[in-house]
Amino acid sequence: MPQTIAVLDFGSQYTQVIARRIRECQVYSKIYHFSTPAERLRADGVIGIVLSGGPSSVFSANAPIPDPKIFEIGVPVLGICYGLQLMGHMLGGKVSRGERREYGHGTLTVHRRGRLFAGLPRKLRVWNSHGDKLMKLPPGFTTIGRTENSPFAVIENYRKGFYGIQFHPEVFHTERGIEVLLNFLAGVCRARQDWTTKDFIEHAVGEIREAVGSSRVILGLSGGVDSSVAAALIHRAIGSQLTCVFVDNGLLRKDERATVESLYKRHFKIDLRVVDSSALFLRMLKGVEEPEKKRKIIGKTFIEVFEKSLKKIGRADFLAQGTLYPDIIESVAIGDNPAALIKSHHNVGGLPARMKLKLLEPLRELFKDEVRRVGSALGLPREVVWRQPFPGPGLGVRVIGPITESNLEILRSADAILQEEMMSSGWYWKVWQSFCVFLPVKSVGVVGDERNYAYVIALRIVESTDAMTADWTRLPYDLLQKISGRITNEVRGVSRVVFDVSSKPPATIEWE
Ligand code: XMP
Repeated sequence: MPQTIAVLDFGSQYTQVIARRIRECQVYSKIYHFSTPAERLRADGVIGIVLSGGPSSVFSANAPIPDPKIFEIGVPVLGICYGLQLMGHMLGGKVSRGERREYGHGTLTVHRRGRLFAGLPRKLRVWNSHGDKLMKLPPGFTTIGRTENSPFAVIENYRKGFYGIQFHPEVFHTERGIEVLLNFLAGVCRARQDWTTKDFIEHAVGEIREAVGSSRVILGLSGGVDSSVAAALIHRAIGSQLTCVFVDNGLLRKDERATVESLYKRHFKIDLRVVDSSALFLRMLKGVEEPEKKRKIIGKTFIEVFEKSLKKIGRADFLAQGTLYPDIIESVAIGDNPAALIKSHHNVGGLPARMKLKLLEPLRELFKDEVRRVGSALGLPREVVWRQPFPGPGLGVRVIGPITESNLEILRSADAILQEEMMSSGWYWKVWQSFCVFLPVKSVGVVGDERNYAYVIALRIVESTDAMTADWTRLPYDLLQKISGRITNEVRGVSRVVFDVSSKPPATIEWE
């Protein structure tokens, strides 16, 4: 086992962010349910414990309270927000009910830097989000920092290595918060800081082997970053026990299927089954124009095709998915947390339960940039690891109006030109997404001396960090000119190219 920091989860929306920040400090961390017995933590050999924040009050009847023996294991403990209040409450201090919530930025004044604030300024802007606060220190503790509203914003029991902080060091809004965490890890827990992406892979490989045993695993490969990295990782762990299924729904980009086949079948030697269902999808979509209807048909047909192909492959026990942390809306039913649900965004909705498949999601604790690092370390090419997002319904939501083979072909050819130019100019890597949209509008043009009454292609190129908001990219005019010139000259059936200058909101990134 690597040196492990246990993060006890009290239902904070930031628990995964704490774990991620600890990984950023190159220390392995594992999230445990708040009620995990101290014995188990001791058996796992944890070198430190972090108590997460949470929405509860220590006074509520069903407040989440950890095993009191965690304070007797003999390892350092860092309580964050609710975690600090718990420490105060359980170790003999006094917490008082807050009359109003302290939420937002505050200024922390550090009286004594000690190990936790070594190398840091005495005043820091920190992020608060709490109702209750500590009003009397537990025996053995001293206070080393205060904010405007909390006299005991940072507390310390030096001898035991117990620290409590009222603010959130894990969030971006707290100035130098990661250094506070690092001081706890390296300075108090004596963590070695040697946990790397390579170690993550080795560890994940071990866990996958243990979970899967001699069973068989099926994975729906889309060619996107997440499923690609999951496939490469699982393949590294269990080799031929993994079968990947790639559904050609007829809504793929030019050469996409061939690229996926060459990478996974030939290069990685993964057992990859390509199911060509393009005719079926196009039949189901015939005459459908309404975007939501298109999406529903594509989703439903995908599940039917996937299910059928699983039956052909034979017995499998696991369905693997490249689910990432941001796909999981997490709010565990803890204490009186009203948002009491774990909702999993299953890419293949409903299927695992119906097929009695267990889920294997080796990336579920990672964030996108971490997944990219894992992908690179596994030897996936840059084109896969840094690929722009592509919607599940594919070109189906980029052909506006009815989806026909000829409209798809026009879109594919135009899009291939756009991608080529984006790649060769280097802009592909700088933007969030760049793609063409087929508009079922005819406009007049001239080719040679002839009138050309043909369709319109829109260029959609946006910058974004999370797809929640997006701005259209100010691409150089010369590049736009080149793209437009090539599309109108080389793609039959297009007479005009337009550039979409709408931001999100109010427009969405995709047109449908
Ligand atoms: P919108 O159009 O809502 O898109 O601004 C936001 C991001 O999500 C992608 N997108 C999808 N991804 N299935 C997906 O996996 C979908 O049905 C879907 N629709 C949109 C879109 O490409 C953009 O990155």
